[in-house]
Amino acid sequence: MAKWWQECVVYQIYPRSFQDTNGDGIGDLPGIIEHLDELKDLGVGILWLSPVYPSPNADNGYDISDYHGIHPDFGTMADMDRLIEEAGKRDIKIIMDLVINHTSDEHPWFIKSRDKNSPYRDYYIWRPGKNGKAPNNWTSFFGEDCWEYDEASGEYYLHLFAKKQPDLNWCNPKVLEEVKDIMRFWLDRGIAGFRCDVINILYKTSLENGRKRLALTGLEHYLTQEGTHEILRVLRKEVLDRYDCFTVGETVFVTPQTAWELCDASRRELDMLFTFEHMETDQHYVKWFKRKFSAGRFAASISKWQQAIDWNANYLENHDQPRSVSRFGNDGPYWAQSAKLLCMLLLTLRGTPYIYQGQEIGMTNFDFTGMEQIQDVESHNIYRLAKCLHFPEALRWRMIRASSRDNVRTPVQWNSGPNAGFTTGKPWLGVNSNYTRINMESQLDDPGSIRNFYKAMIALRSGSDVLKYGSFVPLVRGSGIFAYRREYREEGLTVLLNFSDKARKVDIPGIAADGQGSLLDTAAGTPDTAGENANNSNSFRCPVLSNYDRKVSGMDGAAFNGILQPYEAIILSDPAKIKSGEKSNE
Ligand code: NOJ
Repeated sequence: MAKWWQECVVYQIYPRSFQDTNGDGIGDLPGIIEHLDELKDLGVGILWLSPVYPSPNADNGYDISDYHGIHPDFGTMADMDRLIEEAGKRDIKIIMDLVINHTSDEHPWFIKSRDKNSPYRDYYIWRPGKNGKAPNNWTSFFGEDCWEYDEASGEYYLHLFAKKQPDLNWCNPKVLEEVKDIMRFWLDRGIAGFRCDVINILYKTSLENGRKRLALTGLEHYLTQEGTHEILRVLRKEVLDRYDCFTVGETVFVTPQTAWELCDASRRELDMLFTFEHMETDQHYVKWFKRKFSAGRFAASISKWQQAIDWNANYLENHDQPRSVSRFGNDGPYWAQSAKLLCMLLLTLRGTPYIYQGQEIGMTNFDFTGMEQIQDVESHNIYRLAKCLHFPEALRWRMIRASSRDNVRTPVQWNSGPNAGFTTGKPWLGVNSNYTRINMESQLDDPGSIRNFYKAMIALRSGSDVLKYGSFVPLVRGSGIFAYRREYREEGLTVLLNFSDKARKVDIPGIAADGQGSLLDTAAGTPDTAGENANNSNSFRCPVLSNYDRKVSGMDGAAFNGILQPYEAIILSDPAKIKSGEKSNE
């Protein structure tokens, strides 16, 4: 039986950039409450809040200094309780970010751990240096060394992210006890689960030198270790199983096999995972070296994961990834069409869909022109590193421009007023100057807007067993076309997506009819595997929903003629079912 979190659409809020209500330029919890009705209207069932805990903000909240509190920038615990309650009244659940690979260096545990004799010393990974150098050769996710020397105690501590994010020592059972308490604290307040930050790197099996790699030397000693599986099973059994909640893990460098081990229902670890492979199809090795987007590569990766894992956490954007319309679509002449195409992709895959704030109005990458406008610690580290490596300035900026996380962190564009209606003060990060054209207010009442396409797609999904529970059957990918079917019991839907700025004929036998009502004579394309019902009919498939102004008419309207317009996206019904009394010709 399906679980409630399999039937909902999740909406991610990056609170700093969502809505400010007190004029300090930083989004806050009352700002989220203000927009709950709108989110309900969109059809969202779950909100994921990026961290709202106290934090010195070295990494915008992913460096937590108190797991039991609310950052004053965001409001108070009373605001948080009110948010949970008000969301609940609208049948919206809240999940929080659980960041337990590391804390802030300003967390009291870490401050105490600086003393060699403190019982907290062993909460972190402290080691003496080797021959005056760091304890091993590992490198960090943020492009810097991952050991920091502490003068006072004469040892180094490990940080796989920024130096203000010391890694917890998961070999110490006390850390596990502390985390259980933290999770219970929030679940008891009424939240419905956690998004678990970099959850598959918790346990470090050894601190030996790693095999030299271009990035992340040392990875083999901590990536998806048996110790991490054990921790997840304990948290599940001793905490999560006692609540009606779910977990979604952010998991780096997983293969279908390791992903399965982390999230298959029978293993009782995580409920679903964010994987990265589809997000890496437009890069060479690391995200700073971009390569041209290829719809074929992208579709191949999505197809692979759709078939490998029973239940995926599907996403095209989050607070770490550039805007999808700028990246996989076309933020120029086909901005609206391609944003809607990406919406259709996201909402027709098997798994739980995650929408990132602003995605539903087609927000684009930032329009910044220089490093002084960038806030993100990762971008600054990489820029510095590239400078040390003598990369020319223009190339360095190009790397940041294309891949910086600030692309997606600019404030939500609510209206065409000052600061896009985000704040009455000075926004903590610049507002994209396209806000007069791209904003929520202008889209809410426009039936043809991207936002209302999201609303229609969410409604379609929530009323469709095929879209919610159906299997995924790839049909065709190539020449910019990605086509697949969803099948459930006797029902089926076909999704056709044209990722190119040219009209394209879809070469799938039996999928299209010409104006006269006979099947188009299509040269067979390059089907991956055809769905059972894909080519065995000579009745017509009709658009159920399209991002173009087509007549959509369920089972008995105009047949699809096989031509997709630039960035067109269509869902086709299966051939009309034979009504009782009529004879089947199949
Ligand atoms: C993954 C988070 O999504 C990212 O924003 C953060 O910087 C790192 N984990 C470290 O917590």
